[in-house]
Formats: sequence, structure tokens, C-alpha cells
Amino acid sequence: MEVVIRDMHIDDLPAMRAIECRCFSDPWPTEWFQQALVEQTICWSAIRNGSVAGYIIAFIDDDELHIANLAVDEPFRRRGIARNLIGKLIELARRNRCHYVKLEVRRSNAVAIRLYKVCGFTKLCTVRNYYIDGESAYILTLKVQ
Ligand SMILES: CC(C)(COP(=O)(O)OP(=O)(O)OC[C@H]1O[C@@H](n2cnc3c(N)ncnc32)[C@H](O)[C@@H]1OP(=O)(O)O)[C@@H](O)C(=O)NCCC(=O)NCCS
Repeated sequence: MEVVIRDMHIDDLPAMRAIECRCFSDPWPTEWFQQALVEQTICWSAIRNGSVAGYIIAFIDDDELHIANLAVDEPFRRRGIARNLIGKLIELARRNRCHYVKLEVRRSNAVAIRLYKVCGFTKLCTVRNYYIDGESAYILTLKVQ
């Protein structure tokens, strides 16, 4: 399966928003994606046969690269797309001399926690009531070598 990772285009937004709504109980509104694009946050789309199969959004804050959003549409899962997106992000963190890659994940999101673990992340702490529905978040970090 050939998947190309490229910078996100404004035209990707409808497909991304549809994936977002399928993936999350608290999806990002379209404006947040638009804002990420305008602010030149790191926004990459994974493209399969011309269509958006997944995406990652991240930003650099001092010496940390923070993953703000990551999703892969269901038909394209378990094919290494998320691992590939994260791997490229870690390379970018290294090039930008970031010391850490950091993210929050729902405590119940066992699939994502497994993914981050295989990518080398470890748990830093738990933040209670992090999400709007009261669920806790795990803060995971990876030290950039
Ligand atoms: C989490 C998510 C991004 C993973 O995307 P993906 O492209 O399917 O992940 P990959 O194929 O790169 O998986 C890499 C590794 O993660 C682990 N993993 C991924 N999905 C898994 C699953 N359903 N069950 C167990 N392990 C899983 C495996 O170790 C996998 O390696 P393997 O397939 O060689 O065993 C995707 O399931 C998703 O979009 N979920 C909904 C949105 C979400 O939770 N985003 C993260 C928010 S913090």
C-alpha cells in the first residue's frame, strides 16, 4: 500500500474533519484545523490513492515537540501509517534540536497507548479531569536521541 506523507492542504480539511468525527467523541472543529494551517503548525496528511487516510498535527514549544492530533481512518489502520507519521515527526524534532516529543492521550485509549509505547514513549504523569467529559490524560514523552 503506497502512502505518501505531505504537508496538509486546505483542500484536505473536509476529509480530515470527517475522519476526525469518526475517530473522536470530542472532535476538533474545522476552525482548529484551519488555525493550525494558518499558524504554520506542523500539519501533515498521509495520502493513499489521492485521498486523506490520516494526519498528524504538532507544534514546537521551546525544546519540546508537542503532538496535538493524530488519526488514521479505520480502513487504513494497522498498516504502519501512524508509526510512519510519528517516526517522521521524531526526525523533525531531532533536526530542530528538540529534547522531547510530548503528547496527551486518554487513559482509556489502549490502542493509541500501545502505538506510542512501541514508538518509544513512556508515561510521565497522569492529569486528572483533563478532558471535557472528566476523563484523565496520560502525559507521554519520548527523549529525542
Ligand atoms: C491510534 C491510531 C492512530 C493508530 O494508527 P495506525 O496507523 O493503525 O497504527 P500503526 O499501523 O502505525 O500501528 C503501529 C503499532 O501500534 C500498535 N497498534 C496499532 N493499532 C493497534 C491495535 N488496534 N491493537 C493493538 N496494537 C495496535 C501495534 O504495535 C502496531 O504495530 P503492528 O501493527 O506491527 O503490531 C489509530 O488507531 C486511530 O486513528 N485511532 C483513533 C484516533 C486516536 O486514538 N488517535 C490518537 C489520539 S492520542
